[in-house]
Amino acid sequence: MAQYTFEPFKIKTVEAIPLTTRAERAQFIRGAGYNVFHLPSRAITFDFLTDSGTSAMSDRQWAGMMEGDESYAGSRNYYHLREVVQDIFGFEMFVPTHQGRGAEQVLFGVVAGPGKTIPNNTHFDTTRANIEARGSTALDLIISEGLDPTNRHPFKGNMNVAALEELIRRVGVENIPLAMMTITNNAVGGQPVSMANIRATKELLARYHIPFYIDACRYAENCYFIQQREAGYRAKSIKEIARELFSYADGFTMSAKKDGLVNIGGLLATRDPGLFEQLQNRLILTEGFVSYGGLARRDLEALARGLEEALGEKYLAYRTGQIAYLAERLLENGVPIVEPPGGHAVFLDAKRFLPHVPQSEFPGQALTIALYLEGGIRACEIGSVMFAHKDAATGEVKYPALDLVRLAIPRRVYTQSHFDYVAQVIANIYRARDQIRGVKIVYEQPRLRHFTARFEEV
Ligand code: F0G
Repeated sequence: MAQYTFEPFKIKTVEAIPLTTRAERAQFIRGAGYNVFHLPSRAITFDFLTDSGTSAMSDRQWAGMMEGDESYAGSRNYYHLREVVQDIFGFEMFVPTHQGRGAEQVLFGVVAGPGKTIPNNTHFDTTRANIEARGSTALDLIISEGLDPTNRHPFKGNMNVAALEELIRRVGVENIPLAMMTITNNAVGGQPVSMANIRATKELLARYHIPFYIDACRYAENCYFIQQREAGYRAKSIKEIARELFSYADGFTMSAKKDGLVNIGGLLATRDPGLFEQLQNRLILTEGFVSYGGLARRDLEALARGLEEALGEKYLAYRTGQIAYLAERLLENGVPIVEPPGGHAVFLDAKRFLPHVPQSEFPGQALTIALYLEGGIRACEIGSVMFAHKDAATGEVKYPALDLVRLAIPRRVYTQSHFDYVAQVIANIYRARDQIRGVKIVYEQPRLRHFTARFEEV
């Protein structure tokens, strides 16, 4: 029987969760065009759509909100955030942004452009879209183990360093303005990257003088996995591991809505003074002045405090333990998931869950709909709806290697009994999986279609 690591906090404020009947859910999902992004939150009992901006803040963070100094420039909350960013990441030059894609938009608005290629272990969809919107190519170079849902490699998020070198030789240093590493690697299951892989990637890039940027959304969870799984890190604190990890980086983007434990916010940092000037100029044009980056100053204070809290080892043990617990309960019932579970989510393997539904009929989407209908659970398709695309040359539809459904767990929000219920619902769906049919798209947009697409059953 799976073990549950208890919450290292008690609850001060509660929020009622909506309870609905199956008939009500059937009506809601039809009205939403069978796309859970269109559902109102009042229709949802367990919201696992994302772990982004959905966390519960602590009393200490809320107290900090009251100490917001809403000065346009030079607010004391900005200076506090600066101290924390320097302390954890070791970066002097940084700006806040309204969220992760704000940082991406500013960075790629300056460094990307036609003919450029930007590799990553795996790009998140907004990162890819921001790069492609500038006419550049976004390339994923993950190790092959990362694409095998049952391979229990401890660092399945790793970069394929040999493939990266091959890419550099093929397209030329001058066409790679920077290379990225996403930690944890969200798109393949929230899988961590090892320190050895980060070091090897840095060493390779340094030889070619290519800047190395980290997509740092879930860096604290990644550092916890390094502490637990990588030789030589057991005795180190999470902050020491983070300091080492970021010492290899020339810059980073961060959606602070994850390991910043805030509902809104982001960061962008660099070590290049010339580039920093350009980034600041673009930030002022699109996000806001350099000392607030599109956020209320009280949000900067909540972020400064949240960044510190997310480094807590008791918190990270509970956090990753909660994900492992849900995963274990599902495995006990034979449910196919990505193994081992990552840091922020359990990913159902829709291809193995619904082997009778071909990728052209979106098994991940079909499963997402079933989760909602059966349990009021909102999950996120991370598969063919999100990633399938027409090959520009041949017109042939290319399907992604994995068709996944992500149950992203908000931080400090749900409890063990919630997970027991959710695991039971999913086990029931799995037993009756033969009855689930595929879907077809009846409306879509050319970019990031998963947000707005509408579906019908086939
Ligand atoms: N990079 C990664 C790895 C992400 O997971 C996200 C967001 C972003 C960048 C963009 O950050 O949303 O603050 O603009 N991920 C969320 C998710 C949306 O559900 O995984 P953002």
